[in-house]
Amino acid sequence: MTIVKTPVDLAGRIGRILSEHEAVEGACLVVLQAIQREFGYVPAGALEPVARALNLSHADVYGVLTFYHDLRRAPPARHVVRVCQSEACQAMGSRSLTEQLSRRFDIGLGETTADGATTLEAVYCLGNCALSPAVTVDGALYGRATEFLVLERLGAAE
Ligand code: FES
Repeated sequence: MTIVKTPVDLAGRIGRILSEHEAVEGACLVVLQAIQREFGYVPAGALEPVARALNLSHADVYGVLTFYHDLRRAPPARHVVRVCQSEACQAMGSRSLTEQLSRRFDIGLGETTADGATTLEAVYCLGNCALSPAVTVDGALYGRATEFLVLERLGAAE
């Protein structure tokens, strides 16, 4: 993952992604996912070229961007903690775990700590329902998650 430094980078790299997906039917989500893989998030400057290339309105693209929780509108922190909010995990305490982590980091879902170290995100089923509640820490999947496990994985356990 590379963070874009200049608008020229942005235009050229988004143009390449668009040309790679021009034959894909209903490509908006796929293109936004590809942009996020490229930059780590979907920069605001990507919306207009994507809308133009796919013959959509800016609002259409923004709607897709904000609907899917996996898509980010800002660069992620150094560490990303994602807590499953789907039913099996809720039944096994994921809401309580989310509240504990929110208090610990003093942030809500979708937010990043003031020091830029950690982003806390919601995710909707990680395919690990039998081991609920499930989380990912920097992309690694963990089941039967606890606050301690998350902090330990972050190297922050006391
Ligand atoms: S419901 Fe959480 S992993 Fe499936």
